[in-house]
Amino acid sequence: MSNSDPFQALLAIGDEINSRHDIDVLLERVLDIAMDTLNAERGFILLKSAQSADSLEAVAARNISKENINTIQELSSSVVNQVIEKIEAVITVDAQADERFAGAESVVLQNIRSIMCTPLIHSGNLIGAIYMDNRLDAGKFNEESLKFLQAFARQTSIAIENAHLFEQLQAENQILRQKAELNDAFPEIIGESPAILRTMELIRSVADTNASVLIEGESGTGKELVARALHHHSTRRDKLFLPIFCGSLTENILESELFGHKKGAFTGAIDSKAGLFEEAHLGTLFLDEIADISKNIQTKLLRVLQEGEIKRVGENTIRKVDVRIVSATNKDLWKEVEDGNFREDLYYRLNVINIKMPPLRERTGDLALLLDHFLQKYCAKNNKTVEKPGKDLIKYLGSYHWPGNIRELENSIERAVILVRDGQLTADLFNLHRTGKIDSELIGKPLKEIERIVIMKTLEMTENNRTKAAELLDVSRRWLQYRLKEWGIVDGD
Ligand SMILES: Nc1ncnc2c1ncn2[C@@H]1O[C@H](COP(=O)(O)OP(=O)(O)O)[C@@H](O)[C@H]1O
Ligand SMILES: [Mg+2]
Repeated sequence: MSNSDPFQALLAIGDEINSRHDIDVLLERVLDIAMDTLNAERGFILLKSAQSADSLEAVAARNISKENINTIQELSSSVVNQVIEKIEAVITVDAQADERFAGAESVVLQNIRSIMCTPLIHSGNLIGAIYMDNRLDAGKFNEESLKFLQAFARQTSIAIENAHLFEQLQAENQILRQKAELNDAFPEIIGESPAILRTMELIRSVADTNASVLIEGESGTGKELVARALHHHSTRRDKLFLPIFCGSLTENILESELFGHKKGAFTGAIDSKAGLFEEAHLGTLFLDEIADISKNIQTKLLRVLQEGEIKRVGENTIRKVDVRIVSATNKDLWKEVEDGNFREDLYYRLNVINIKMPPLRERTGDLALLLDHFLQKYCAKNNKTVEKPGKDLIKYLGSYHWPGNIRELENSIERAVILVRDGQLTADLFNLHRTGKIDSELIGKPLKEIERIVIMKTLEMTENNRTKAAELLDVSRRWLQYRLKEWGIVDGD
């Protein structure tokens, strides 16, 4: 059957497998060895494609261009399909006379004399197939050839799986390295979910520019933390980072806070005072709750951003300032623009770089890390020790919707640490308001039935006090009585 010794060939394949991890090169090499050994004229290896589990893809081919394999596969489909469907090897020593392929156009048209095809199987699953054929009488296959091809296929299956595992490990390794590196660079930002890693990458790439950054996200998601990280990773780190909460201040106060004022500019302006823009010169100004500022202040901010100049309230002197602006909002600022509450030109100036902070409920993968971090922090602060939280507790915390996000998590952990007695953290210590949670047994039931369940449960809770129950349900007592009567329940207070 062979040009060379089949055992030598298997050994050579073993060597290839051990020395190569690049799967494409490996398959090309082993196909060469096998075809040489079997004296085959043409051959190819098909593998399940990564994209679709149903389709097979040619990964190596000899004397057939990869592009042509689809046609060959189509032409020889009777053979390949048989192998794939039955997951067993097929050999024909005289294809022209083989009744299994009678009417198979490919075999006739291409004058194929002999064919071998065997599945590639790993852990009982089909992962691909190897096909070889000959069009010359001289190269006919025999039963020995098939045995060799099957041994070869087993080796190849293992090699493919190894290579896959190796690729997977390499990819995981890269992610781990990236995580470790980012976590080293931002020790204060806890998390390794894709969203938070993306944020860290972004901070790193924009920290050293002067581009304005707008951070959007619900309250407690870490917007200020990110703003500080931006400052500390920039060349401005030796200058001031000044945060100002724009939301709670009246227009006049905010204006004089930001821009300063001249002595006597308004009642109470006893002295001239520099504003935050001047104080933050060469540093970073963090404008928190930016969506809430008035149109007048918006106009003045736009001027600073465009010209790099400010005027103190009541003064005409123009002062140059070099300040990096980071702003934050828990609103959708673009929507504020659309609603006419926020200047579009200012929006673009503030939003050169946009960072979106995901709510905690969308990154519960980070919960265990955050829990660990805050437990350490508050145990140290309160001089306590607690046992490592169990899986159940982490699951319980992960199922909560965390409207207050990381701030709420941090607060409830601190509370739990203060309250814990025997070092054993339990769910009740966290005191979560699970109002948003719906009993899963209610989902999918008719509303009428849900109404009844909720009413009966409320009555149970109020120990059958109908006045109290009506109050809780926010319905009139009359309405409640009416419902109960409908259900044939008449007594009660
Ligand atoms: N990824 C995080 N890792 C560690 N602590 C965080 C993280 N995100 C937020 N925190 C903490 O949660 C609290 C709220 O964060 P903060 O930046 O003030 O949120 P926001 O400004 O969005 O309301 C702070 O104590 C902050 O240190
Ligand atoms: Mg904040």
